[in-house]
Amino acid sequence: MASGSLRGRILRCADTPGAGGVEYFEDAVLSFADGRVTALLPTAEARAGGMDVEALEHLGERLIVPGFIDTHVHAPQLGIIGSYGEQLMAWLERYTFPAESRFADEDFAAAAMAEFLDELLRHGTTSALVFSTSHEAATNLLFTAARERGMRLVAGKVLMDRNAPAALLDTALGGEAASQRLIRRWHGTGRLAYAVTPRFSITSTEDQLAAAGRLLRDHPGVYLQTHLAENPGEIAAVGELFPDALHYLDTYDRHGLCGERSFFAHCVHLQEAERERLAATGSRVSLCPSSNMFLGSGLYDWAQLQRDGVCISLGSDVGAGTSLSMLRTLGDAYRVCQLQGMSLSPMDGFYALTLGNARALGLEGQVGSLGVGSEADFLVLDSAGDPKVRQRMRDVNSIEEEWFVYMMLGDERLVAQTWIAGREVRG
Ligand code: GUN
Ligand code: ZN
Repeated sequence: MASGSLRGRILRCADTPGAGGVEYFEDAVLSFADGRVTALLPTAEARAGGMDVEALEHLGERLIVPGFIDTHVHAPQLGIIGSYGEQLMAWLERYTFPAESRFADEDFAAAAMAEFLDELLRHGTTSALVFSTSHEAATNLLFTAARERGMRLVAGKVLMDRNAPAALLDTALGGEAASQRLIRRWHGTGRLAYAVTPRFSITSTEDQLAAAGRLLRDHPGVYLQTHLAENPGEIAAVGELFPDALHYLDTYDRHGLCGERSFFAHCVHLQEAERERLAATGSRVSLCPSSNMFLGSGLYDWAQLQRDGVCISLGSDVGAGTSLSMLRTLGDAYRVCQLQGMSLSPMDGFYALTLGNARALGLEGQVGSLGVGSEADFLVLDSAGDPKVRQRMRDVNSIEEEWFVYMMLGDERLVAQTWIAGREVRG
């Protein structure tokens, strides 16, 4: 059904919580046609307007929310979630690079990319900014699988021309040409968009970072995604490889890789000058708390980034993150903030997973808030999916309290339904 109406409780953000943007309806109707939202209004108003609201499917205690958005996740890393005992650089060598090498096999890649997207949907993530592998064919398979599912996905082939196994390396010019072919084929095709994806400065030469800058200049509207200042050992290695750079961010910045469509994952150990430059260029950071705790990378400073005016988004960073669930990611974000003396409010957390991440991607008219005219990507959450959450519901007195329980205790078990462009894709 790409057209229809559902009746139930609905939570969404029309703007930031600070600007009074949270809207909660105890009893409302969500209508959609041809994959887009056509109305979201209190049931009493729908009834007064002549709609036969009694005939609609009533979701009872369940809660409709916009589909969650993940701004940093690796498609080929599902198979290595929870691999023991290393920090970043050793983890990449021991687990990640071998796992990504398997994507040279196209049958394996086709099945794994499809499984990855189905898992995103099962966890309630309807849009994502995704690292593929360095294989062009595997990246085509990822986009093909996303198109089949009608998902809004931004993704890119990883660029790496040094410091990785030979099977994963491209060259500055070869990687640029492959990215160009992928951009022409996929960027702006349906709900898909392309992200130029240099893995990080350690695995790209100056020539390749310059090529990434050319790709951005030659194709306005494409995104950039990479990693920044995740781990002390990584930062020291960048210093040795780029002795004349002002700081880690400068290795990207001097090739034109900063900007409003550029996402820098992690940003745990930033210098003041880097924060200033991120803010001045409108660059986005993707904070990945689950990954940071798992790899022992450190604690990001959300409040400081906010004070500096840096645009913050949230990512799962699977497979260093230990769950695709953005509810779990948000719970971890809260815990990391607590350790830094900041209590992230429930509704700021809700905003981050929905409209906040959509705005960071420049997709606020399309996804993240269920506004009229936007794409009908939404979830039906059901506390009954987890007995302990269900039990906690007896004692909550407001939507803020309810959402905070979801944020601290919830995960994919609460996602009863996922809808993409007005179609239920799993029940
Ligand atoms: N830095 C470079 N590559 C990666 C990766 O795959 N995962 C994480 N967490 N950090 C990285
Ligand atoms: Zn990552």
